[in-house]
Amino acid sequence: MADSKDQKSLSQKLSDYVSFVAKQPKGFVYREERTKTAAPKQAATKTKKQGLEELFCKYVDCQACPLATQGRTQVVFGNGNASTRLMFIGEGPGKDEDEQGLPFIGRAGQLLTKIIEAMDMKREDVYISNVVKCRPPGNRVPLPIESNTCKNLLLFKEIDIIKPQIICTLGATATQAVLGDDVKITKARGMFFSFKGIPVIPTYHPAYLLRNPAEKKTVWEDMKKIMEKFKELSV
Ligand code: URA
Repeated sequence: MADSKDQKSLSQKLSDYVSFVAKQPKGFVYREERTKTAAPKQAATKTKKQGLEELFCKYVDCQACPLATQGRTQVVFGNGNASTRLMFIGEGPGKDEDEQGLPFIGRAGQLLTKIIEAMDMKREDVYISNVVKCRPPGNRVPLPIESNTCKNLLLFKEIDIIKPQIICTLGATATQAVLGDDVKITKARGMFFSFKGIPVIPTYHPAYLLRNPAEKKTVWEDMKKIMEKFKELSV
């Protein structure tokens, strides 16, 4: 008897609820559905890849610095493994990068790929970015307003998301953007510095190596220091 009484009150409750819903304004959401949609959002943790995608979405049509109106084809974001241990930072996209939308794919980029492979890694294992994400006209060095704007809006946020174990800055522009204007590449290369607790090692830019091939062995010495550092960090 108790069962059928419960059944009856349940169907009564149901019909009461149906007529209640029918009277509600358009867009009414039942309490349990709201809970169901809210719960996964709270539980979800963003992956590093998603973090980068979200960041880049905001800046696909960036107008924040003068480079936006100086002939760029597109914004060239960092690229590679978001969960990497090693991040390389260059100066800014050149002609090939501007056309294809990827960093370091021209001659200097091909040399960088060879260097990475000589370290027994693949290009897909590392993350590669630039101080400025838009090509400076005629490949000139980025102006301070351009470097400062872009590093604060993008580069430093990429570093925060990726949290690499080691950063390697390529050339003077990247080294100074990360470590400060008083750091000179000729003195600083091959030494470890720190940026927000992350070891940073400056080395020569691959474009400089194309003009001065004799310095390739110097850069190789610096890459060996990176490999040694990884060993220390994994003990
Ligand atoms: N030089 C750079 O600094 N970055 C690139 O992406 C290409 C060349």
